[in-house]
Amino acid sequence: MPPPPFRPPPGYARVRVVGSFDELVTTPFADGVNALCWPRTLAGDFSEIVAQLGDGEDITTLEEARLRALPLSAAGRTAVATLLEDQQLLRARGLSPSLDCIRRYPRDEPGAPVSTDVYSFHADSATAPTDTYLCTYAGAASEGLRHEEARRCVDVPELRAALLARFGGPDNGEFRDYLREHCYDLHYVPIPSAQPFSFGLGHLWRIAVEYPDSPVPPCVHRAPETLPGQPPRLLLIS
Ligand SMILES: [Fe+2]
Repeated sequence: MPPPPFRPPPGYARVRVVGSFDELVTTPFADGVNALCWPRTLAGDFSEIVAQLGDGEDITTLEEARLRALPLSAAGRTAVATLLEDQQLLRARGLSPSLDCIRRYPRDEPGAPVSTDVYSFHADSATAPTDTYLCTYAGAASEGLRHEEARRCVDVPELRAALLARFGGPDNGEFRDYLREHCYDLHYVPIPSAQPFSFGLGHLWRIAVEYPDSPVPPCVHRAPETLPGQPPRLLLIS
């Protein structure tokens, strides 16, 4: 049975749903909207692709030739066609999408006061205007957190104190440089009542990135935990 159509979680004014790829790429981020979602119910069997890839590296980037060489059913081939079309759409806009089969991402060293791996809620950042596009086709979907329900780790007094202790100096400009260099300032914790939401499967998202003079706050998001025994994820990211 196809999944229900995507609806933004109640009260989530920062997601705007769009009706086409063109609308997804041309709608400006404004009025606090920092995530655009083009909801889709995709035909084809994406799980079959993942199953055919078998065991492999933690992260495998899938090139067109590899996808086309997989021994697939008609449903699997339909899924491949969609994977290639999505990349083509993004490339035609000058973007550089990557399609990855993800078994696990690298994790932080244990004991760090603030986690800075992608399993931790974070904002993507850049020095110039840009956006992140993403779509989960199979496996666990990426997760988002409303800006109102997110606090920067460096603004949480206990976490800031722990980072300061690790830095070993006063809370000054050098410390702020240290926070930036280690990406501590890009990571967030949910407030106790927060309700993170799923980006769902098949929907193509464009989310706001933190860069100088961005008109909206960045869209806080994270990779889902991949538990032992769970199938790998199939993720498009640009
Ligand atoms: Fe990210």
